[in-house]
Amino acid sequence: MQYAILLVCLGNICRSPLAEAAFRKAAMEAGLEAVIDSAGTGAWHVGNPPDRRSIAKAAENGIAIGDYRARQAVVEDFDRFTHIFAMDEKNLADLQVLRPSRARAELALLMDCVPGREGEEIADPYYGGADGFEASWRDVSVAASAFFERIR
Ligand code: 4NP
Repeated sequence: MQYAILLVCLGNICRSPLAEAAFRKAAMEAGLEAVIDSAGTGAWHVGNPPDRRSIAKAAENGIAIGDYRARQAVVEDFDRFTHIFAMDEKNLADLQVLRPSRARAELALLMDCVPGREGEEIADPYYGGADGFEASWRDVSVAASAFFERIR
C-alpha cells in the first residue's frame, strides 16, 4: 500500500510543519516510502514559510524545513491522502466539515497514533515560548515513530 499522510494544524506554520518533518525523518529511518505533506485549516499564512521557531527546532533535529510553504487544506486532500491527522480537536472538527461523505482517507487526531495517548491534543505553541516548540517536536516525533511502527 502506498501511504500518503497529511498533517494538519491551524496555520500550517508551527505544528504541522514540525509534524511533516518528523514524519519525513521517521519514514527515512524506517526505510519506508510515503507521500508526506502538511496543511492548515486557516488561510492567514498561505504561501509563508514556517515560523522561525519551528525552523530552528526542526534544524536542531536534522531536518531543513525553511523551504516549506503554508497551504490551506482542500477537499481534494481527502482523495490524495490515505491518512489525515489533526493536531487538535478544533482542527479535527474543521476537517470533518470539509470531509466529503465518500471520503475513504482515515481522519483522526495525530496523537491517536500513540498507544496510551489517544485523544490528546498537540498544544498550539504560537503565542508561547520556545518550550512549547520543544513540546510540539516531542509529541509529533513520538506520533511519527508510532505510526510507522504500526504500519510496518
Ligand atoms: P499552527 O500555529 O496552527 O501550529 O501553525 C498557529 C499559527 C498562527 C496562528 C495560530 C496558530 N495565527 O493565529 O496566526
